[in-house]
Amino acid sequence: MCSSGKYLAFLSLLGSIVSDPGTTNRVVLLDTTTVLGELDWKTYPVNGWDAITEMDEQNRPIHTFQVCHVMEPNQNNWLRSGWIQRQAAQRVYVELRFTLRDCNSIPWVSGTCKETFNLFYLQTEEPLSAATRFRPTDYAKVDTIAADESFTQTDLGDRVLRLNTEVREVGPVTRRGFYLAFQDVGACIALVSVKVFYKRCPSTVRNLAVFPDTVPHTDSSSLVEVRGACVENAEERDTPKLYCGADGDWLVPLGRCVCSIGHAEMDGDCRACKPGSFKAYSGNTECSKCPSHSSSHDQAATICHCDKGFYRAIKDSSTVACTRPPSAPRNLVSLINDTALFLQWTPPIDTGGREDITYNVLCQRCDGRDGDSGVTQCEPCEPDLRFIPRPLSLTATSVAILDFATHVNYTFHVEAANGVSGLGVSPRSLANVTVNTNQAGPALVGVVRKDWASQNSIALSWPEAEKLPSEIVDYEVKYFEKEQEQLSYSSTRTKNPSVVVTGLRPSTVYVFHVRVRTAAGYTAYSPNYEFATAAEDPDISDQGQVLVVVTASVGGFSLLVILTLFLLITGRCQGYIKARMKSEEKRRTRFRAGHVPFSGIKTYVDPDTYEDPTQAVEEFAKEIDPSYICIERVIGAGEFGEVCSGRLHIPGRMDIAVAIKTLKGGYVEQQRRDFLREASIMGQFDNPNIIRLEGVVTRSRPVMIVVEYMENGALDSFLRARDGQFTVLQLVGMMRGIAVGMTYLSDMGYIHRDLAARNILVDENLVCKVSDFGMSRVLEDDTEAAYTATGGKIPIRWTAPEAIAYGKFSSVSDVWSYGIVMWEVMSYGERPYWEMSNQDVILSIDEGYRLPAPMGCPVTLHQLMLHCWQKESNQRPRFNTVLSFLDKLIINPSSLLTLVNDLQSYPDSPDDMPDYPLFISIGDWLDSIKMSQYKNNFLAAGYTTLDSISTMSLDDIRRIGICLIGHQRRILSSIQSLRLQLHHIQQSGFQV
Ligand code: ADE
Repeated sequence: MCSSGKYLAFLSLLGSIVSDPGTTNRVVLLDTTTVLGELDWKTYPVNGWDAITEMDEQNRPIHTFQVCHVMEPNQNNWLRSGWIQRQAAQRVYVELRFTLRDCNSIPWVSGTCKETFNLFYLQTEEPLSAATRFRPTDYAKVDTIAADESFTQTDLGDRVLRLNTEVREVGPVTRRGFYLAFQDVGACIALVSVKVFYKRCPSTVRNLAVFPDTVPHTDSSSLVEVRGACVENAEERDTPKLYCGADGDWLVPLGRCVCSIGHAEMDGDCRACKPGSFKAYSGNTECSKCPSHSSSHDQAATICHCDKGFYRAIKDSSTVACTRPPSAPRNLVSLINDTALFLQWTPPIDTGGREDITYNVLCQRCDGRDGDSGVTQCEPCEPDLRFIPRPLSLTATSVAILDFATHVNYTFHVEAANGVSGLGVSPRSLANVTVNTNQAGPALVGVVRKDWASQNSIALSWPEAEKLPSEIVDYEVKYFEKEQEQLSYSSTRTKNPSVVVTGLRPSTVYVFHVRVRTAAGYTAYSPNYEFATAAEDPDISDQGQVLVVVTASVGGFSLLVILTLFLLITGRCQGYIKARMKSEEKRRTRFRAGHVPFSGIKTYVDPDTYEDPTQAVEEFAKEIDPSYICIERVIGAGEFGEVCSGRLHIPGRMDIAVAIKTLKGGYVEQQRRDFLREASIMGQFDNPNIIRLEGVVTRSRPVMIVVEYMENGALDSFLRARDGQFTVLQLVGMMRGIAVGMTYLSDMGYIHRDLAARNILVDENLVCKVSDFGMSRVLEDDTEAAYTATGGKIPIRWTAPEAIAYGKFSSVSDVWSYGIVMWEVMSYGERPYWEMSNQDVILSIDEGYRLPAPMGCPVTLHQLMLHCWQKESNQRPRFNTVLSFLDKLIINPSSLLTLVNDLQSYPDSPDDMPDYPLFISIGDWLDSIKMSQYKNNFLAAGYTTLDSISTMSLDDIRRIGICLIGHQRRILSSIQSLRLQLHHIQQSGFQV
């Protein structure tokens, strides 16, 4: 028999030991140590287990169950818990704390004493009624429980307690509740506490997203994916997700929420910005103090409003200071010589806090006095007054004025303006000066004579002007009907001191005056001369008209000749030649590469348009004698066979390193065609940034494609291996090379469809070349390509949304991929969108999110990426624009100094992009060299990109109408330096 007195003493000690460590990823369904009332557990037979309840020092009950019939054989004592509700549990854990006495320490019990007990359970939808008979066979066994530590009589004496804790997993549980049962078969046990719990991932807030309590899967090897909901005043960036693991731990946080505008993160919450601060963009940035001259009075401001008298221009971002219009220009002076009038001034004292000051020159003629009031009468100046460079939006502080009348008082108002002029009610900032032109040059045209007059024409002549300070350019004859009193006038120019003025009305008096234009400007007008046209007489032939008709017919004839020539050379002539061709030949002529149509751009020929693709290979790829090829080693494997490196030695030529793609044996004809397709595409290209085809071997085995060897292999792996080792300028140089290649391809009308860093090869000088053309149709070879809903195989992470959604591939979908390549380059070969699933990538792009700037990425480059990732394909830049922009960055490396990480608030999506001056134009360039006056000359001659001007010669510059030698020189030297820089960058492999 057990000594129950000692045993109870031991139990009372346990009261203070049993406590719940309380972990938050457990939900306790039952804990006998915290039950205050009766436990009401049942024992079978009633004298088997003993329920003992004692009170601890705080008067809390300690429920224990003990059994110790070690001397009697065949014990079968059951203890059954109350009904335990399952709640959300799928698997439950039972933690038992108990003591078990060592049989060796009890004399005479060797046959009957046991040192284990058994744990059972029974699931039910409802608690069993009190009348239900206990049937051990209804219960399922969980396990036999043995003690890790048993105790002896001596231990009791020494008050050494050996408490065991065992945990067993029960389940899966599916019914609404269950019972536990403990079977004793003859041991001496005290069951001190029973705790039943299940595990769950507790509700949590991560990355500003709230995740609810989540119960793990019953299958411990699979995770439960849980989508988080953004906290108040936050919005999703990438879908926030966590995975709930079997042990109730949250794993793999993905995505995030960011605080909305007007709110910033504090202690896991998005708190409203305080008055005096604001936040204009959503994102995890702080609220910013209101910029100068602005304030916010409410909480959660998204913008600070300008103080009275201060403004923001439409293009100003809400994060910049408010500004005001400038004060008036200072020290306005005029200077006049024979032919030109100059105004000069100094900038205003107060620029209003802005740098975009411009000046407008307004002119009035004030040479009459009102008869009654004697007040000076002013009227707007003559519209043909010429302002050099222009009257409005001047950036310099001077202007020249030509073609003014003599003996006139002109008043010039010079207005200083900036981006906020005209906003609000501030007065205009003007400085005025009055100039009297009496001192201007004399009229240098002598007496004007009428030589003859007809009904519609008058012939005039005058003596050749002499003693002019500079060479005569031409004469201007101004005339108007006398009766019309100069309401409307006409003018004509002539190189000679005579003119036939045509298109006049019969029997009408006209007023004429003439002036001379010299290289230095105009002289004053001659006095007015009045001449009349002849009276109407139907019999008199009009010489003037004859002249006009003759001129027109001569002109018309030339036009006819030119037109005929043009038509012969262009469409009609081609149509004529083509009509004589065989139809097959015709088709090929239309598409043939190397055929340079009038646009000057070669077009790409799709080899699939050939009935026999072998013909395309013959046309575009050279056959190489295999004895010229020496294969050295295998460098990779493609879809069709091995890729080797080796040397190509064509007699009479230097031998060169080559890469050799082989077609493995046992191929079928279709495979051979697909393999050679790449060669017939590549063979059409000739560009330093496109991998060069050396030739093919098709007449012997193995079939081979031989291309130039690229020492550094594929760009993605190259960058990964050289992480962090290049300057930003070198990386931009690589991107530039790819942009050159892609500009060429898109000009040829070729769509790549699989532009990615893995398909760019790098040579020993870091020159990047676009490769991998074979699979542009099917993408079978690309392990990144996944099947889409429409059945196509597409490299999702690199592909524009419209191409994924409905197969709309184009050069602008290639531009999207180019943006991804830029990101790969700047992140040294990181995988775009990391480990996100393809589905998540598609969804997040659709929601408007874009890859963030890689570490150390200049703002300008990330903006270009975002530009390439515009959802609307027609809003993406074209490759030539991308190229001009990169050139601009390379030429002006300070544009690469501001890194995205340095910026306080920065948009993540193209929609949020500020208006940023992304692309340098001819206009920007001319402004920068102070030659803005020639913008129209360049544009009219078709020069629209920096690239296009880089090849201009002095002759070209003259041809577009730039006549002043100083200006020609300035423009040419700027073009030369531009060209030099581009050349240097290209040649040096960007090791700048
Ligand atoms: N791998 C595939 N093509 C290659 C080439 N042209 N040079 C080097 N490695 C390559």
